[in-house]
Amino acid sequence: MLIKNPKGWEIPESAATSESAYLNRRQLMKGAAAGTILAAAGPVLGGVAQAATEDDPSAHLYPVKQNLRYRLDRDLTPEKINSTYNNFYEFGSHKEIWRAAQRLPVRPWTVRIDGMVENEMEIGIDDLLAKMPLEERLYRHRCVEAWSMTIPWSGFELSHLIKMVQPLGSAKYVEFRTFVDKSFASGQRQFWYPWPYVEGLTMEEAMNEMTFMVTGTYGHPALPQHGAPIRIAVPWKYGFKSAKSIVSITFTDKRPKTFWEELQDAEYGFWANVNPAFDHPRWTQKTERVLGTDKRVPTLIYNGYGEFVADLYKDMPQDRALFI
Ligand code: MTE
Repeated sequence: MLIKNPKGWEIPESAATSESAYLNRRQLMKGAAAGTILAAAGPVLGGVAQAATEDDPSAHLYPVKQNLRYRLDRDLTPEKINSTYNNFYEFGSHKEIWRAAQRLPVRPWTVRIDGMVENEMEIGIDDLLAKMPLEERLYRHRCVEAWSMTIPWSGFELSHLIKMVQPLGSAKYVEFRTFVDKSFASGQRQFWYPWPYVEGLTMEEAMNEMTFMVTGTYGHPALPQHGAPIRIAVPWKYGFKSAKSIVSITFTDKRPKTFWEELQDAEYGFWANVNPAFDHPRWTQKTERVLGTDKRVPTLIYNGYGEFVADLYKDMPQDRALFI
């Protein structure tokens, strides 16, 4: 992104927990009281997840059943890496924001759903969770900065929420907004960024089965650094399209002007579909560093999700604008 530490991806392997630690923990949490198990998991997770999930009123909902339709060609990223290497500019423009992000108050939390819909609403996150069919999906996550992770997200398909609010035929886009509060989000004191963080999708993209609202990670409620209590995951696009800690979802007939477009539209466009054939102006997109390993692997068009999404774009010019 704009401010980049070129060595930032070099997290030593020794800092990682293995995938089996996550899987064991998932098994353990299934049958036992969450308090006891979280205490046991504390040392494994280095306390990163523990503090954030202990008091979370949705903790009892997780882990949720995995949807086996979405498979991976690579190992899960160790939770320790996924939880300590993040982009969340509200808490600073570097990768180690996870400590600062613990100041994010994740309750009470309401999401306003408005604009061109039959049923406008303002709904508390726990009421929303009660209405949505939760599942776990293993998704790849490819940042525009050419690093990637693979993450067990929990949450629900955005299409379920869209059906609940019934958009009008005139709605063409969906806009997602993050909170603004400088009192705890120190990054928002950096006045040169165009707060709030805004992202957007077309209605067709928002209705696509891959578009997922994330409320949990690694079998527990999402951590603040991941954009708790609710963020989006749009895995065929660069990671900046996946807005964190969402407070409003607006249906509109105007294309949203996004946070990164506002800053630098030649580098971070509206579409931002992953494509190794179109380099970022300042670095290659042909390959990506797989965090938690020493591998650099070829990047795949639509981040490997072409079978689900390529049709969305078949009638559009296949040029640079679609892929930056
Ligand atoms: N959402 C908000 N509100 N603020 C941000 O700075 N960064 C984006 C995206 N969503 C960002 C955000 C970027 S650049 C990426 S790569 C992903 O979040 C990072 O998600 P992760 O930290 O869970 O890997």
